[in-house]
Amino acid sequence: MPFLRSLPLLSLLLLAATGCAGPTDGTDTGACSSGSYWTGGDEESPLMNPGQSCIACHDRGEGPTFTVAGTVMGDYGDVDDCDGVEGVTVRLTDADGAVHEATSNAAGNFYLNDAIAMPYTVELESDAGVSTMSTAPTTGDCASCHTADGAEGAPGRVVAPF
Ligand code: HEC
Ligand code: HEC
Repeated sequence: MPFLRSLPLLSLLLLAATGCAGPTDGTDTGACSSGSYWTGGDEESPLMNPGQSCIACHDRGEGPTFTVAGTVMGDYGDVDDCDGVEGVTVRLTDADGAVHEATSNAAGNFYLNDAIAMPYTVELESDAGVSTMSTAPTTGDCASCHTADGAEGAPGRVVAPF
């Protein structure tokens, strides 16, 4: 029965399609500059899943709608679910010149649901200074590029000014 034999493969494919990438049990041994991890899995919280693609998951119909969301972390290589840096201002200037601000919370997470005219420019500000992204993205899902390894040319995570 070829159909039955393909069932395990099928369920693996379904898991891959519905699950989100990244460790969610807090036991990951990769780099985490804060040494503190989110351990709540996909339990709803403003502190959930630091470093993961917030909008990619929420757009599947789960959780509130955001136009911009991400995590400010302590180091470029910090793994998923590593708690980031609190109190950093994330400031976007959209294509219409409107300025939108959010402040990272205790997990380093930030999010907005303002209407953002794409593309936008973005800078971070903390007591340590300002860092600016030089190119202008057209998606607000920062972690779609700012992964631990860096995708689409990003240097790794969105990192607090240092
Ligand atoms: C793997 C999927 C997934 C990822 C990744 C994810 N979320 Fe969520 N989020 C959810 C689900 C599911 C809910 C709850 C939906 C519900 O029950 O209404 C939720 C709810 C929330 C809420 C509402 C919390 C409350 O108390 O009402 C916030 C805020 C939130 N998420 C922020 C974020 C941020 C910021 C990120 C990225 C750093 C993120 N989420 C990443 C799935 C995810
Ligand atoms: C389409 C991919 C992409 C998206 C989406 C993206 N970035 Fe970037 N980011 C990059 C790339 C590539 C660089 C390096 C080149 C540059 O500065 O443009 C970068 C650089 C940065 C830098 C400067 C790096 C440093 O440490 O000096 C900051 C800060 C930054 N991004 C913040 C953000 C924030 C916050 C968001 C979400 C609101 C975001 N980025 C969304 C690709 C992206």
